[in-house]
Amino acid sequence: MKLRPLILSLCASSMLMAPVALQAAETNPNIVHRQGIFKTVGGHMTALKSILVLGFDAQKDVSYHAQGILDAFAHMGNSFPPGSDKGETKARKEIWEDMDTFKQRGKDLRMAAQALKDASADKAASLDAFKKMGKACKACHDDFRKKKK
Ligand code: HEC
Repeated sequence: MKLRPLILSLCASSMLMAPVALQAAETNPNIVHRQGIFKTVGGHMTALKSILVLGFDAQKDVSYHAQGILDAFAHMGNSFPPGSDKGETKARKEIWEDMDTFKQRGKDLRMAAQALKDASADKAASLDAFKKMGKACKACHDDFRKKKK
């Protein structure tokens, strides 16, 4: 009977996995919150790409996703208090060294998301605005997000 060794080896490998999973479980509420918000933003971004770049037929939803990004940023709250650079985070210490520039990058992103919403009725104009918004994401990530943890 081969089933039992298989089950045993599955158990053994999941036990080996457990410490990795525990290590990754960040509990700092600020870090967990901002990563959740950015995941929401990333979800809207992926859906926008499917529509504007890959041709998913939902031009009418572009406005919703642009507003979703605006709403997500509006609900960031105080997610970057001093000291929250320690942990399972890609936030760079430069955020707290130059909070003005960091906040400006956030404003630039909101402007770009609003421009996308305003352009959402037109396919070509919204693709253009989407690309500009992508640059606003990247501008902040380049300066303030670590490439690795
Ligand atoms: C004002 C700066 C800033 C802007 C603008 C910004 N980001 Fe980020 N983003 C960050 C930082 C900092 C992190 C790392 C957060 C952490 O690990 O604690 C991050 C993390 C992320 C993550 C990873 C979340 C996770 O942990 O799984 C995604 C996805 C993401 N951003 C998407 C985007 C997209 C898409 C845009 C543009 C629509 C955007 N971001 C705009 C600063 C920014």
